[in-house]
Amino acid sequence: MNIKNLCIAGATLFLLSCSSSKKENSQEEKIDKLIAQMTLDEKIGQMNQLTGLGLSDDMKNSIREGSVGSILNELDVKTINELQRIAVEESRLHIPLIFARDVIHGFRTIFPIPLGQAASWNPQVAEDGARIAAVEASAVGIRWVFAPMIDISRDPRWGRIAESCGEDPYLTSVMGVAMVKGFQGDSLSNPSSVAACAKHYAGYGFTESGKDYNTTWIPEELLRDVVLPPFEAAAKAGCATFMCSFNDINGVPSSGNRHLNVDILRNEWDYDGVLVSDWGSIEQMVQHGIAADLKDAALLAANAEVDVDMMGFAYVRHLKELIAEGKVSEKIVDEMVRNVLRLKFRLGLFDNPYAKEQESPFYTDDALLKAKNAAIESAVLLKNEKNVLPLKNVKTIAVVGALADAPADQLGTWIFDGEPSHSITPLAVLKKDAGDVKINYVQTLKYSRDKNKGDFAKALAAAKSSDVVLYFAGEEAILSGEAKCRADISLPGAQSDLLTELKKAGKPVVLVVMAGRPLTISKEVAEADAVLYAFHGGTMAGEALADLLFGKAVPSGKLPVTFPRMVGQIPTYYAHKNTGRPAENVQLIDDIPVGAGQFSIGATSYHLDAGDSPLFPFGYGLSYTTFAYSEPRLSATTLQKGGTLTVECDITNTGKVDAAEVAQLYIRDRVASLARPVRELKGFDKIQLKAGETKTVKFTLTDDQLAFWNADNAKRAEAGEFQVWVSADSQSGTAVSFEYK
Ligand code: NOJ
Repeated sequence: MNIKNLCIAGATLFLLSCSSSKKENSQEEKIDKLIAQMTLDEKIGQMNQLTGLGLSDDMKNSIREGSVGSILNELDVKTINELQRIAVEESRLHIPLIFARDVIHGFRTIFPIPLGQAASWNPQVAEDGARIAAVEASAVGIRWVFAPMIDISRDPRWGRIAESCGEDPYLTSVMGVAMVKGFQGDSLSNPSSVAACAKHYAGYGFTESGKDYNTTWIPEELLRDVVLPPFEAAAKAGCATFMCSFNDINGVPSSGNRHLNVDILRNEWDYDGVLVSDWGSIEQMVQHGIAADLKDAALLAANAEVDVDMMGFAYVRHLKELIAEGKVSEKIVDEMVRNVLRLKFRLGLFDNPYAKEQESPFYTDDALLKAKNAAIESAVLLKNEKNVLPLKNVKTIAVVGALADAPADQLGTWIFDGEPSHSITPLAVLKKDAGDVKINYVQTLKYSRDKNKGDFAKALAAAKSSDVVLYFAGEEAILSGEAKCRADISLPGAQSDLLTELKKAGKPVVLVVMAGRPLTISKEVAEADAVLYAFHGGTMAGEALADLLFGKAVPSGKLPVTFPRMVGQIPTYYAHKNTGRPAENVQLIDDIPVGAGQFSIGATSYHLDAGDSPLFPFGYGLSYTTFAYSEPRLSATTLQKGGTLTVECDITNTGKVDAAEVAQLYIRDRVASLARPVRELKGFDKIQLKAGETKTVKFTLTDDQLAFWNADNAKRAEAGEFQVWVSADSQSGTAVSFEYK
């Protein structure tokens, strides 16, 4: 770009920003006028979110009186439009409603679960999924979705890990921002855009022992370095709303947490969107034991500036009284109402309140193609002994397992509006595209928890008479998601035994796992010849898997979360601290001589029965080809404060197949005032490489990426040595060093 063009671009940007700030100013004036006309009851009504009751008289009256501001879980477009008509035509101030819904990884066309999408390491996958969900959901009048879920999740026992982007703050930030972009489109006021909701603010993924809704203890350093970055990134990307989490953080539930909601969200990040409670989370402060009753809970939430009470009835029942008693200031309530009205203006609802009753825009060719691509990119190849995959020269295939033909389960958790009748299962595709290949299908286990071994003999016979076995195992959709936590995360039911049985046939066994979380599958990985981890891949999972199994597509997914060998290793994540005695000289339980004496000199940090390594590290994933990484090249040996440093690495596709690779940039701060992680992800690039081709990836480091939350409560990079890797996962690669000055 030359200087002249740069000036024109600058002037255009300036004019655009002037016109958008003018728009915002006139919008704020309109909001002022509206607030000035509102009774206290009407204000409180805007802060009240109720679940849909269809066209019930109760709901109609609440809308007429202005005692409800938004409605969740209403789905029928005609009902939505009629309720909206009552709000706009029959309520005193004609303020439109917003209709909200949990649209997490698709409305009708279901994409892979978010954990799967994160495994694609491709933000475009996440943006496409959110855009298609927005188009489909807005078609019935939904303009607010409760996604993305950007809770850092380091405990696979927690069922909601399925809804997350995994363990890493950087990867989660990138994928979360992409989802916000997809949901909200170019402009929120576009009728096909929906307000996104960054949830659950904050710390929900750190619940004790992975049990949902449980307690969390999160020191400020962990909060700032790990938990909050995705939320800050979402706020900066213009995410229209935030949702409180259910958990207490260090004793204070999010719905009453001024530090999170006021100090950080409003004051530090200057956030002017809506903060909604989770379902009943204001009321639940009574059960938490920090509010004596509902009125007390309303007081805590209002003073923590939670704008909207989702199904807690605390504000409608008690806020007026609290204001009269002088315990909550009406000025603060005005600010909270302002946030809600601002969202309604931003969504264009004052000008354009109704959904167009149009022909179904669901399952378009484009949506199905993108969902299929997402499922392809989400699958992670964990093992491929003797290049069993892609399948070649097979005449007969045994297809076995509860997940081979499970249309509902492959959709995964949180798909209230997904339709299993539209799912394309692996079995359906294998049968349809079989041609001359014979498919021997023996389901054997009817669902993932099935323990009935009655059909094992049939399955073994099918395996014996086939060239290869495709075994589809995993978890039913209902075993992950909200409140679906497991203490034992192995393959449920008799699935593991079935694998052992199938191996007796002496044929190659390909294990395809469909699950909502990492499972502890050490034994199964050892037994199977190839393992493809597909998560719950959504509507098009079957077509995607068939393409991968037969080599029409090449696996390119990488794990967004560490896979433990056994539950006792949890939490296990790549960005751990080094400790004073990092694991070395690992002596496993059976290597300890009988009668050995107690010692501690030279002892290090690991488990006797698991060693120190995970089953698979964060960032790991194989391909049908191989890649070679050069040593990273730095533009300088020092990075000056305020400066930049570039890191380059050559990556060569050393195999015979064109494929994609995710190059990952990690750093380590060698000596700092607080112990720092052994590696931290700071960038990644998914590149396409033809067989034999070499490409250079380039990353730029600034001091912002080196900074961390210090013990004196400030974020700062500290001078000293840093190591850098560009590698294929979080454990491989060669480090080079530079000095930060
Ligand atoms: C509870 C869940 O925690 C939250 O994620 C969801 O959006 C709300 N319920 C609304 O259904």
